[in-house]
Amino acid sequence: TFLAPLSENEILGRQLRSIYNIAGFYVISGDADANQSTKDGLAKVTAELLSRVLTDGAIVSVTGGSTMASLSDYLKPAVKDLLFVPARGGLGESNHFQANSIASALGEATGGMHRLLHAPDYLSKSTLESLMHEPDVKEIIQLNQQSDFVIHGIGEPFTMASRRHSPEGEVEILKRNKAVTEAFGFYFDEHGNVVHRIKTVGIQMEDLAQKKQVFAVAGGTSKQEAIETYLKIAPKNTVLITDEAVGEYLMKNR
Ligand code: G3H
Repeated sequence: TFLAPLSENEILGRQLRSIYNIAGFYVISGDADANQSTKDGLAKVTAELLSRVLTDGAIVSVTGGSTMASLSDYLKPAVKDLLFVPARGGLGESNHFQANSIASALGEATGGMHRLLHAPDYLSKSTLESLMHEPDVKEIIQLNQQSDFVIHGIGEPFTMASRRHSPEGEVEILKRNKAVTEAFGFYFDEHGNVVHRIKTVGIQMEDLAQKKQVFAVAGGTSKQEAIETYLKIAPKNTVLITDEAVGEYLMKNR
């Protein structure tokens, strides 16, 4: 039988998958910083990959961000009773980028359900402790622990700290410890050590390893180092969806 030859990006993705030893690695054309179509492409490929593994009644945790914002335009699974759960609290930015909005749009687009988390992503210690006893919040925490799949972004740490309106003291900690990457409120240095984790009722790093699959979705020149570093600590069940700006950088720096 005739098999179509692999595209350059497919070859690159396969090579990077074996270098980083994760479940999957997909590279799409372009630079997400420069083109919205590349950013949408990341969401589209993520939706296709997720559709292949979803089963009836699956629970999916989703963080927020501009990269995941258009996921619901593309997700058309052939399964039912999906439940989408926000994996983090609210950030002081556009409604479209909130985990809550993305979870509700996904629930609607797939004829499934969603839950909402009414809490900011960044919390003080005392607020976190009392919120964790609220039944609605408790349910979200449990659902994020039990979920089958996670879809999350990866960010440049100082951009994320400012999007979270983190206090100056925390930004200082990130500077002093040379944070280079961020995902779901965890900040890591270039060696992959956690240098800071925000107090959040959202998903925790420890929850990821037991998931059926974790989709990490991020691209763009400004995130090259952030993604390279995140790959050092990504659990083995991670599927990375990125763009050429990052894929080619990783290949050069390997
Ligand atoms: O944690 C990282 C952020 O979710 C990335 O957000 O897709 O808007 O860059 P972004």
